[in-house]
Amino acid sequence: MNITHTMMLLDVIYFILRGSVRIVFRPRTKPIDGELVLITGSGGVLGRLFALELVREAGGKAHPYRVDVTNRVEVYCTADEVRTDLGRNVTMLVNNARVVARERLMDCPDELVERTMKVNCHALFWMTKAFVPQMKEQNHGHIITIASVLGLFSTACDYCASKFSAVGFHESLAHELLTEEFDGVKTTLVCPYIVDTGMFDRCKIRDEVALFLAPLDPEYCVEQAMNAILIDQPLVCIPRLTYLPVISRA
Ligand SMILES: *[C@@H]1O[C@H](CO)[C@@H](O)[C@H](O)[C@H]1NC(C)=O
Repeated sequence: MNITHTMMLLDVIYFILRGSVRIVFRPRTKPIDGELVLITGSGGVLGRLFALELVREAGGKAHPYRVDVTNRVEVYCTADEVRTDLGRNVTMLVNNARVVARERLMDCPDELVERTMKVNCHALFWMTKAFVPQMKEQNHGHIITIASVLGLFSTACDYCASKFSAVGFHESLAHELLTEEFDGVKTTLVCPYIVDTGMFDRCKIRDEVALFLAPLDPEYCVEQAMNAILIDQPLVCIPRLTYLPVISRA
């Protein structure tokens, strides 16, 4: 085992220990009233649940905007529109929009491969560039990436490459914020197992995994993610059992 592997393993063990301690001694959740939360893909199953939870926590109102997250010009223009309309900066960014082609790699049409990468990976860059500079200036904010456990270990699906990218993107952003000492800008990487939204009907999950894990109930997934977000937890795998394949990989 080299030093990187050892560090990764220690990281994972640390998260598990901390997670276990937190089951018993729940840390105080942060209040988010007064935050301006932006959720991409809030028309989808998970996005809608996140929106309902966050509006409830923030005791606020929701303003819908329609934008193609893969079109960076549209993202930047809409970001300006949001700031002008609401007269405020976004302080919590939930990158939730995602797509899956539902095809085996070799059967997947080229356009769908591109679409998966653009929505699940490239859009993270555009959203971050549109909203994170103001968070840094105020040293206040929270960036949440809804990735997937399939961004930590693979199965046969076009989705995995894009989610590995999302994890890589999120981790480098977190490192950048850390090295630049923006300790007020928090990050949470949410890695749920396949959520039961019908989106993954045609993805073939590895047998040894499918045996132990049923697709996640969307409400359970959002509830667990919210618990982690509200205590500024850097990483959450849902359900907890999915930390195991992550460790075995490390
Ligand atoms: C948004 O953030 C920028 C950069 O810190 C700041 O100059 C501006 O005043 C903020 N806008 C509002 C409405 O708070």
